[in-house]
Amino acid sequence: MTCVDDFRLRFGKKELVPIVIGGMGVDISARALALEGARMGGIAHISDAMVHTISDRHYDTRFVSQKAKLYKYNAANSDKSKVLFDLGRLAEATHKHVEGTMQAKRGEGLIFINCMEKLTMNAPRETLRVRLRSALDAGIDGITLSAGLHLGSFALMEDHPRFRDAKLGIIVSSLRALQLFLRKSARLNRLPDYVIVEGPLAGGHLGFGMDWAKYDLRTIVAEIQHYLRTEKLNIPLIPAGGIFTGTDAVSYLETGAGAVQVATRFTATHECGLPEKIRQEYLKASEDDIEVNMISPTGYPMRMLKGSPAIGAGTRPNCEAYGYLLDGSGNCAYIVAYNREVAAHPGQKKISVMDKTCLCTAMRNFDCWTCGHYTYRLKDTTRQLPDGSYQLLSAEHVFHDYQFSTDNKIALPPEP
Ligand SMILES: Cc1cc2nc3c(=O)[nH]c(=O)nc-3n(C[C@H](O)[C@H](O)[C@H](O)COP(=O)(O)O)c2cc1C
Repeated sequence: MTCVDDFRLRFGKKELVPIVIGGMGVDISARALALEGARMGGIAHISDAMVHTISDRHYDTRFVSQKAKLYKYNAANSDKSKVLFDLGRLAEATHKHVEGTMQAKRGEGLIFINCMEKLTMNAPRETLRVRLRSALDAGIDGITLSAGLHLGSFALMEDHPRFRDAKLGIIVSSLRALQLFLRKSARLNRLPDYVIVEGPLAGGHLGFGMDWAKYDLRTIVAEIQHYLRTEKLNIPLIPAGGIFTGTDAVSYLETGAGAVQVATRFTATHECGLPEKIRQEYLKASEDDIEVNMISPTGYPMRMLKGSPAIGAGTRPNCEAYGYLLDGSGNCAYIVAYNREVAAHPGQKKISVMDKTCLCTAMRNFDCWTCGHYTYRLKDTTRQLPDGSYQLLSAEHVFHDYQFSTDNKIALPPEP
């Protein structure tokens, strides 16, 4: 019976197990998870979302409090145009995160960084340039461009010495988005090394509207595959979103995918960055506990558990400390929603904002429980313990289950 291990993803002479662990910000696809994915011969992502916070957490820096202190005078001002990231510190934080991870890497696999364009950081072009180039400087194996069309992103790295040797790819959710990107990259004579095609069942932000349920991954993959064949472009395609078993993965590999990208099943592992209590929320979730909503200030729909504390929270905008979603003119859709509620409830100490959330603060505090559509199936991948909680899995167990399982079977972990 065919299993994922019968296939390999080839990058030149390099052969990889065709399993990619997707980027999960903020620090959910943590360094420990990425290291395991690489050790087992696959590809795994870290994420550069809110990299200052990640650096402070793991590398004993004080980037967030330093920025908050610098802009403290502006906290009550709804104009955040002056709240800018220091590009030197951004480079330093990215460097620490990437170098610290790469130095610990063992095994034959690769570690990539997920870089979201929607993290506009009040200076979209300048900050993205520093993020991409610092990751390359610090030795990342590859960069996955996500959450945006990235029409200018290759140009930001064009003169970097590693532009042609690092693996560079993009996440798209439609043929149209890919065509736009390929047109730009062809001008630089640099095609992407891989294309991740993310369907509507993925976690995090979705590249669809609220009509996401009308789309399906297989149709989009087939359409893009047909286009690449017609254009004689030999770029590995990597489907993502809702691939829950090794057998699901094989069905894509058999029809020509280079690898699959998966994430949800790794949210139930020891190595993922979610706190233990929240991993249990994911494990016990039922289908009814999950929704796609528009509370992200990015304007993209986002899938999350309905119990996320971020929903309805009236957090005071914390752009002086964070500010990752400021659009370049000091605006964020959450600030508008927050100010509207404050004005509507004068004198009220605690307000609730339902239509948007302060995503920076929420992601920093693990209060936005973004998740994939099949999160409700996680409980079937492990054992329930006598106290009602679920046994956590090792990343190795989940990776090997994808790699070797057949017949839609999911191997339970050894008894604790
Ligand atoms: C908790 C969680 C957080 C995610 N965060 C990001 C992110 O920050 N950037 C991104 O490009 N994709 C993000 N994703 C999408 C994954 O990288 C991946 O493509 C997708 O979820 C795969 O589908 P699956 O979860 O059904 O396996 C996230 C997914 C999950 C489950």
